[in-house]
Amino acid sequence: MKRFTAVAAAGALLIGLTGCSGGAGGAAAGGDGEPKAVSDLVVGFSQVGAESGWRTANTKDVRAAFADADIDLKFSDAQQKQENQIKAIRSYIQQQVDVIAFSPVVETGWDAVLNEAKAANIPVVLTDRAVDSKDDSLYVSFLGSDFIQEGKKAGEWAVEEFKDAAEPVEVYQLEGTTGAAPAIDRAEGFADAIKGDSKLKMVGSQTGDFTRAGGKQVTEAMLKSNPGVDLIYAHNDDMALGAIEAIEAAGKTPGKDIKIISVDAVKDGMQALADGKINYIVECSPLLGKQLVDIVKQINDGKTPEKRIVTEETTFTQDQAVKALPDRKY
Ligand code: AHR
Repeated sequence: MKRFTAVAAAGALLIGLTGCSGGAGGAAAGGDGEPKAVSDLVVGFSQVGAESGWRTANTKDVRAAFADADIDLKFSDAQQKQENQIKAIRSYIQQQVDVIAFSPVVETGWDAVLNEAKAANIPVVLTDRAVDSKDDSLYVSFLGSDFIQEGKKAGEWAVEEFKDAAEPVEVYQLEGTTGAAPAIDRAEGFADAIKGDSKLKMVGSQTGDFTRAGGKQVTEAMLKSNPGVDLIYAHNDDMALGAIEAIEAAGKTPGKDIKIISVDAVKDGMQALADGKINYIVECSPLLGKQLVDIVKQINDGKTPEKRIVTEETTFTQDQAVKALPDRKY
């Protein structure tokens, strides 16, 4: 009865929470007892939102992996708002779930709520995105891509593509959500890779919030202020797809008049790459579900998961996209 009250109170706080049974913390939470039966585990997952094709694929994959493993997954969609994620995490703490997993919408501002989880003896796993905290005891493991490497791969392609350019190359960056790890790191990696090439000139950089609408809107305005732009570096496929719409509406040919690099390699992005409208894509895999389940099981078994698990990823040229598309899972 006591637990029902806590769950009900927490549910009132939470936006978009689904799932039905409450967890009991204990063995999985503290690692100080016998492991629970896997089917008794309860995991609270706070997702960033549904801003992109990548995010939709990630949500689908995580839900499927937990259903396959017969682990109860409580899911909440933060609609790209940090305050919603904090509410969701507090609710999961009140419900005494066994493990909390979340993909932080932005990097900073997590110490207080993560300290609350720590005090409640509930292990936290970061998926996809990192937090910026001095205290790495606030989470057990971080599973996800190396976003700096992704930015570097994009920049290296740009340097190679324009190596014979006789004139300066105007580059415009479509940034992801301000303050988000992939936006910060992809900008850093790209800047690092192109810094030795004085031909490549960054003429502007603005956030499109990882959405197609954002990419389109920013590109429409940018084409007016920077009509001579040669290359767009988009931090994800959705913004690149929005940029393509804006470029075509302005009577130019994406992939030719203005080249485009993006990150993710979701099906729609890969189709645009195969169609010659995007020139290069750096893969960022959303398929994190099975590895997240493994981490939860390790915690339940009293093992210590690796602190940092980096996702394996590749890159795609237009020809490679044509070959890969038929088997693309997301
Ligand atoms: O954190 C991963 C990024 O978030 C993906 O590249 C992007 O599409 C998403 O919204």
